[in-house]
Amino acid sequence: MAHRWNNDLTSADVTRPAVYFNRRQILAGAAGLGLSSIARQATAAEDALTPNSWEEITNYNNYYEFGTGKEDPAANAHALTIAPWQVTIDGLVDRPGEYDMQDILSEMTIEERIYRLRCVEAWSMVVPWSGFELADLLAMAGVRPEARFVAFQTAYRPEEMPGLRYPVIDWPYVEGLRLDEALHPLTILATGLYGKPLPNQNGAPLRLVVPWKYGFKSIKSVVRITLTDTQPPTSWNKLQPGEYGFYSNVNPNVDHPRWSQASERKIGGGLFSRKVPTRMFNGYEREVAGLYEGMDLVRNF
Ligand code: MTE
Repeated sequence: MAHRWNNDLTSADVTRPAVYFNRRQILAGAAGLGLSSIARQATAAEDALTPNSWEEITNYNNYYEFGTGKEDPAANAHALTIAPWQVTIDGLVDRPGEYDMQDILSEMTIEERIYRLRCVEAWSMVVPWSGFELADLLAMAGVRPEARFVAFQTAYRPEEMPGLRYPVIDWPYVEGLRLDEALHPLTILATGLYGKPLPNQNGAPLRLVVPWKYGFKSIKSVVRITLTDTQPPTSWNKLQPGEYGFYSNVNPNVDHPRWSQASERKIGGGLFSRKVPTRMFNGYEREVAGLYEGMDLVRNF
């Protein structure tokens, strides 16, 4: 029951900036009308969706191409040239090609999405992204009926990415989604943060965000998107298949072999950073559980 309120949120509540930014008005309005359940929901939404600060979101990062320390990406990622930027979209699509970032942006509708981000390392943040739905970009390229998966690849630039010297990962960083996950309306390609252009350390100029999955699925600085009919290899799964699955849905009931996934530490608040229970699908159960109906989520971790 502790998580019950979360299931009462619709995707509109989860993503609507007003829930956070106009909480006072929402509360005032709800109280005036005697709608206490709406007031409770707004309170819960604010608690779960108060964005972390710009400082926190841009200085505590995982982007191993720029080093494995949490502060390395902020220190080193300025070296990445993000304009011009091309994204190759190929494989099982009607219109394969090298798409220029400017052309992509001119076709897409940018919106704000406030999402929880839950790292597999058991910390979390709340991030006010801006971006567009991946489904819209895939529609632009025309997904062929045989396609079942989407593979993603990060830029590989040894001259700009000092972390590539170390074989921590089999570079370039690659990720993948099942096609229905990729087409889900919660899945976005982020281009900004707090209404500003996405900082390099957060994956500029184009970074995947899949809020119900562990953060490592949210691949940064994407240069290639390939539609396939077979499950694509993914970086962390290749490295440690017993620890990181292809699906990697946030699941408090499936522990990492070396630590519990039942709770998480919310970044921020210094010494007072709080440990809070981790929610199934990172709180997006209502929106995405249907994607996995009948699937064994322990085996398909
Ligand atoms: N993408 C690339 N290319 N390289 C990485 O090291 N780290 C992942 C993901 N995307 C990573 C990546 C991990 S482990 C997490 S938790 C998130 O990015 C962190 O995103 P943030 O730094 O914007 O919070």
